[in-house]
Amino acid sequence: MTRIIGHLDMDAFFAAVEERDKPWLKGKPIVVGADPQGGHGRGVVSTANYAARKFGIRSALPISAAWRLAESARRKGAPPTVWLTPSGRRYGEVSAKIMAIVRRQVSLVEQVSVDEAYLDLSAAATFEAAAEICRNLKTEIRAKEKLTASVGIGPNKLIAKIASDLEKPDGLTMVTPAEAEKVLAPLAVRVLPGVGPKTEEILNRRGVRKIEDIKKFTREELREMFGKSGVDLYAKARGLDDRLLVAAAEAKSVGEQETFMRDTRDAEILTDKLRELAATVSRRLKADGFTAYRRVVLTVRFADFTTLTRSRTLEEPADSAAVLEFEILKLFLPFLDRRENPRGQALRLIGVRIEKLE
Ligand code: TTP
Ligand code: MG
Repeated sequence: MTRIIGHLDMDAFFAAVEERDKPWLKGKPIVVGADPQGGHGRGVVSTANYAARKFGIRSALPISAAWRLAESARRKGAPPTVWLTPSGRRYGEVSAKIMAIVRRQVSLVEQVSVDEAYLDLSAAATFEAAAEICRNLKTEIRAKEKLTASVGIGPNKLIAKIASDLEKPDGLTMVTPAEAEKVLAPLAVRVLPGVGPKTEEILNRRGVRKIEDIKKFTREELREMFGKSGVDLYAKARGLDDRLLVAAAEAKSVGEQETFMRDTRDAEILTDKLRELAATVSRRLKADGFTAYRRVVLTVRFADFTTLTRSRTLEEPADSAAVLEFEILKLFLPFLDRRENPRGQALRLIGVRIEKLE
């Protein structure tokens, strides 16, 4: 049976939910993310709607830079941008409803993030029939949730994922096995999952900018350049990918993080904040209907943006805020001295997460 894989990705998800729920925002540029504080805010953009993307605002951009872009657009006559802090719980609820719609029509679904899932459409037998299923999904999501999704259909996850991005927003893009290599050829190497800024730079230095340029290297040459991921790159450049869908249980974790107003190494401020985050996370665990957790994860971001995570899996599931606080502080103490912080850097952000929930 030919494999037919779909990739569904909601358009400007957080911002689209806000725009839908708050009718007075309709059509305005919206940025969801950290508080911009008149250009002095810290933290980053979670997402922007398409009206704000016109100003160059993107996910992960520092919120201060987003503010400057929005201000400069406003001075040129664009409407003022609306700044919103994320309501994670709300987006989670909407996400669950969308995934339920998808799961009613497709039996094997792998949800990979809050707004994105792979669908195994092989049972449809033809690409045309698979496209029909996806059209229906999009219509139902629009009717019931008043939101738009973009869907890519391809012979594997790689092609489906890239295809879903090609006609955003509200796209439906089908790439048959015969077309796959041709569709990839002119795209920037960065479009391939796994090609980050470092790999991109090495490739660019060798004159490789488009995916088709990768094909001038043999598998061995790519292996020498990048190790095992070079071998994957050889296959990806040819549109090949044999990863299976994993119908994993929904990602079950609860976390909170906070960017400090200013970077700090003050042990008291840091441990107080960790206690507070641990208490919030533990409240959310109960609020989300879980009783216990088995894994504790600490995230630390230094002033230079280096980000580290440290985690511990408990022997027994725990349910108390006190255990969480204790475990998190134990993971954190080495960051107050040489052991985890040899250069004595100040910290920019800390986060607490629990996983393996029951
Ligand atoms: P994406 O699907 O990457 O982005 P999007 O849905 O906002 O926009 P697009 O139309 O291009 O798909 O991510 C989904 C949500 O995840 C996004 O709405 C906000 C959140 N997110 C972050 O909080 N930080 C990030 O860096 C990214 C990429 C996403
Ligand atoms: Mg999306």
